[in-house]
Amino acid sequence: MQVSESDWAAHYAAVKQKTGLDLNQYKPNQLQRRIVSMAESKQHKSLSEFSSWALSSSENTAWFLDRLAINVSELFRNPEKWEELRLKVLPQLVKTSPRLKCWSAGCSYGAEAYTLAMILDRNFPGAHRIVGTDIDQAALAQAKEGRFNDSDVKGVPNEYRSQYLTKLDGEWRANRKLAAMLEFKTQNLLGDRFDSGFDLILCRNVVIYFTDEAKDLLYRRFFQALKPGGVLFVGSTERLGKAQETGYESIIPFFYRKPMIGNDTWRNAS
Ligand SMILES: C[S@@+](CC[C@H](N)C(=O)[O-])C[C@H]1O[C@@H](n2cnc3c(N)ncnc32)[C@H](O)[C@@H]1O
Repeated sequence: MQVSESDWAAHYAAVKQKTGLDLNQYKPNQLQRRIVSMAESKQHKSLSEFSSWALSSSENTAWFLDRLAINVSELFRNPEKWEELRLKVLPQLVKTSPRLKCWSAGCSYGAEAYTLAMILDRNFPGAHRIVGTDIDQAALAQAKEGRFNDSDVKGVPNEYRSQYLTKLDGEWRANRKLAAMLEFKTQNLLGDRFDSGFDLILCRNVVIYFTDEAKDLLYRRFFQALKPGGVLFVGSTERLGKAQETGYESIIPFFYRKPMIGNDTWRNAS
């Protein structure tokens, strides 16, 4: 399929108008390859034909958004980083905030948010809250149900698996106790308003498709959304280029902290 610059511009404008999502903030190569492949899978002959179809009903738009970004995930993805979170970061955070306010930004179908819920419940029990957000409605619907497949749970340590997961009709179901800590909602990280006062923000394997400008802005907005002393946890290939300039201190690779004013407990502890 041949697509001109003006066809892309028209499609991006139509998507922005219908969904609020600005596709100019994604790296064009991967994004456009993905959109062309979606159009071809639906046998559309031109981008404008596909664009009209994709935006003609909320069902079609949900289909489009579901395929726009890869939503691969799994429980305890990169287990060594979760161990660092458990052993080095969470003990510091619960010292100053016994009820943590956490955000899994770009949560897909919830594996990251459920992993955090299991770790908190088992090691730091308390009335913690975790919100998971994404643009993908289908993924969020699955997250709300706490359903996972065999591949999602393959890295779950045995003690967590036996305490929090049950196999039912070929699927793994998360223990309902975790649901009390979790909330899932739609949110576009590239446009929507952010809540604030977070102790911990996880944003992992989400920004890979974003332009450098979009990433820098997002990390600045996360900084504003964190409490002083709060921590941003990013994906294992996603170091922040402008961490110091933005105000973060890099505490452990892939964990960035908003410094506290005055009595800084992290520094006192280390
Ligand atoms: C690869 S998944 C990452 C899931 C999880 N964080 C992890 O590391 O396993 C990327 C997710 O980012 C979401 N995403 C992409 N663009 C987004 C945006 N502008 N706002 C919110 N979520 C977005 C996608 O829908 C997808 O579910």
